[in-house]
Amino acid sequence: MRQKVIAGNWKMNMHPGEAIEFITNLTPLVKDTKNEIILCVPYIDLFYSILTAQGTNIKIGAQNMHYEESGAYTGEISGKMLKAINVEYVIIGHSERRKYFNETDEIVNKKVKSAFKYGLKPIVCVGETLNQREEGRAEEVIKKQVDDVLEGLTNEQVGSLVIAYEPIWAIGTGKAATSEDANNGAKQIRDEISKTYGQETASRVIILYGGSVNETNAKELFEMSDIDGGLVGKASLNPEEFSKITNYDK
Ligand code: PGA
Repeated sequence: MRQKVIAGNWKMNMHPGEAIEFITNLTPLVKDTKNEIILCVPYIDLFYSILTAQGTNIKIGAQNMHYEESGAYTGEISGKMLKAINVEYVIIGHSERRKYFNETDEIVNKKVKSAFKYGLKPIVCVGETLNQREEGRAEEVIKKQVDDVLEGLTNEQVGSLVIAYEPIWAIGTGKAATSEDANNGAKQIRDEISKTYGQETASRVIILYGGSVNETNAKELFEMSDIDGGLVGKASLNPEEFSKITNYDK
């Protein structure tokens, strides 16, 4: 049985004071769950969030990182720096980074390798646009993304991955994919991994669904055969609402 993982992605929301208050309020609401709970917070909140979450079952992640260890990259943060303050997870290749900051599969692949190098657990995002889906190209797009972002990884690394299937048309739109469509996407990713890395490795990969997950649709989505939890944007900004999603099985 794969562990269920529910990760919040705050995006560019919440300053450190708000992060501390949020985590303090969330802690008692989620203390009894067996599901893995991760909050991916803005860089400026990381240190405060890690201190506030100490001794709780809430894990803290970043939303991005640079692939180099250090150097003349003004405004960037490396995996080594994240590890130094005990960050555990890092989202890599979110569609908003691909869209607004021109991140390609090649860059995403470099970042994933760098995350592993520094002992971080990457949450790698893939997913098709509405156009690609309407043109019937969703499968082909997902296949290429999976092949390219995992290129050169070891079996061990692939088996320990968290991958988020996030159809871009479902992100922030309030229109989640149906549980069947979401599961088909997740299953395709697992099958694709199986072809290159074998079934045993593929069966260990945690695959999340992301895109308008909320307290109403979480249970149905997370109980699908190939979906192991969710990457949650908007609904992760309120502790009560987020706790209902992490406690979907209660
Ligand atoms: P959303 O965002 O839940 O607000 O749709 C999900 C994401 O971008 O990871």
